[in-house]
Amino acid sequence: MGYKLGEVILSRDTIARRVKELASDIANDAGKDKSLVIVGILTGAAFFLTDLVRELPEELDVRVDFMSVASYGDDTKSSGVVRIFHDLKSSIEGKNVIVVEDIVDSGLTLSHLLELLKSRDPTSLKVCVLLDKYERRKTEVKVDYCGFRIPDKFVVGYGLDCAGMWRHLKDIKYVIEE
Ligand code: IMP
Repeated sequence: MGYKLGEVILSRDTIARRVKELASDIANDAGKDKSLVIVGILTGAAFFLTDLVRELPEELDVRVDFMSVASYGDDTKSSGVVRIFHDLKSSIEGKNVIVVEDIVDSGLTLSHLLELLKSRDPTSLKVCVLLDKYERRKTEVKVDYCGFRIPDKFVVGYGLDCAGMWRHLKDIKYVIEE
């Protein structure tokens, strides 16, 4: 069985417009003289994060850090443990943190990661996702900023991959199994 690219679900222009809106919401909520630590979850969110932070105003004190994680568990049961492949470079204690993720699906990875980050005592901890496959949620995750809610179909592009392929596409497309 192989895969091929299907139709565009979100075009580069639609994504760019929404990224600007999300950055504006984040900046408004942060207010003046605030500092933000934007934590990107590798690898997928790196593409979204770099566009997002460049839409934030110059006056805002913005720091960027990355993490690479995987959650242990299987389809039915999650162990609640996050395995860290690459940790943050700096402490988030007393910081206003926004976790940036490409897509939230079952929600397990993100909810485990948020528990872990909470234990490091940030002043605030928010979540920004580009895509939300809300129909597939297995655990509640509070998403503060959401780009698009999408149906339960596999998508690639703009950082999202299928077995490592198609992250580099400018548009987000469906994948067709053949
Ligand atoms: P979950 O929310 O813990 O189930 O996992 C979210 C992760 O699943 C994301 O970070 C993606 O790596 C992956 N994922 C879920 N749906 C898709 C998709 O449609 N395309 C590409 N990756 C996906």
